[in-house]
Amino acid sequence: MTLKKTYILGIESSCDDTAAAVIHNGVVLSNVVATQSVHEEYGGVVPELASRAHQQNIVPVVQLAIHKANIDKKQLNAIAFTIGPGLMGSLLVGTSFSKSLAMGLDIPLIDVNHMQAHILAHFIKTEDHSTPSFPFLALTISGGHTQIVKVNDYFAMEVIGQTLDDAVGEAFDKSAKILGFPYPGGPLIDKYAQKGNPEAYKFPKPKVGPLDFSFSGLKTSILYFVEKQLKINPDFISENLEDICASLQFTIVDYLMDKLKNAVEQTGINEVAIGGGVSANTGIRSALKFAEEIYGWKTHIPKIEYCTDNAAMIAIVGELKYKHKLFAEYNVVAKARMKF
Ligand code: KG4
Ligand code: ZN
Repeated sequence: MTLKKTYILGIESSCDDTAAAVIHNGVVLSNVVATQSVHEEYGGVVPELASRAHQQNIVPVVQLAIHKANIDKKQLNAIAFTIGPGLMGSLLVGTSFSKSLAMGLDIPLIDVNHMQAHILAHFIKTEDHSTPSFPFLALTISGGHTQIVKVNDYFAMEVIGQTLDDAVGEAFDKSAKILGFPYPGGPLIDKYAQKGNPEAYKFPKPKVGPLDFSFSGLKTSILYFVEKQLKINPDFISENLEDICASLQFTIVDYLMDKLKNAVEQTGINEVAIGGGVSANTGIRSALKFAEEIYGWKTHIPKIEYCTDNAAMIAIVGELKYKHKLFAEYNVVAKARMKF
């Protein structure tokens, strides 16, 4: 089936970003994200507030995405939406809206797995980004997930390693909270880390299986370390913020890279892609570039706007599924938990 004049609308609402995008033959025509600032003061996403904000945002965000794509909604061929995993209340808003719009326009509805979308975002066509070839390894690192996935084909993915407790994004955000940053603190740790000494402090790297991860211990060791230092010097955090952030980020990135090296060794696959919010981190981005030079890996690093939650990644999966007529029923239900 050819993709002649195919316009797919993608809708993402799994966590705290309401997003809509239109894609046309692999090229993103619009990509709108409304990020919810309401959670900043709470140190994490408040599910009830998130679903209410999605309800407020979804109509204007979708309208803007269609407007920016310079098309009429009647030109849409299908609606792709995030069915899960994510916060149930948030998912319900996107799911219900997508169903109604698809029914109203009498076009197919396409359900998309959010974590698959973080990986398949690499198939969005951009001038400066090469698409991966199968099989490749994907490290999905976000606020809810940390996984190493063997990607055999678009929809044939195998999780070969994952976190046993917290996700890496949570490790960033919870550590950031200890340091006094608002939510989400990951990008702020990254910002301060760039000016600090990564070897100033040593934090332990938890020992689990070669492809698995554990982050809950790291958060605790940071808490104890900071509490101990504050007893000696009440200004310890403000006086050493850059070095603390740099050391913390170095430990996390080094740990992620150790696991990737194990995965490359075990599978014999040296083509590696990263995806999910934490792939915006400058430390992991440069570690991957370095691995390209040192180990000869072929690496794929997404453009920043396709790292954190967005609907362009939902739309590209929609387009891939549309080609194979992989449509959902109109009575499909959102799923808080999902496997690949
Ligand atoms: O993929 P995402 O937008 O949402 C989820 O599906 O979870 O990821 C959000 C996570 C948050 O934990 C945020 O702190 C983290 O990605 N993050 C970063 C950076 N940018 C976003 N963590 C470290 N460094 C960054 N530059
Ligand atoms: Zn995500």
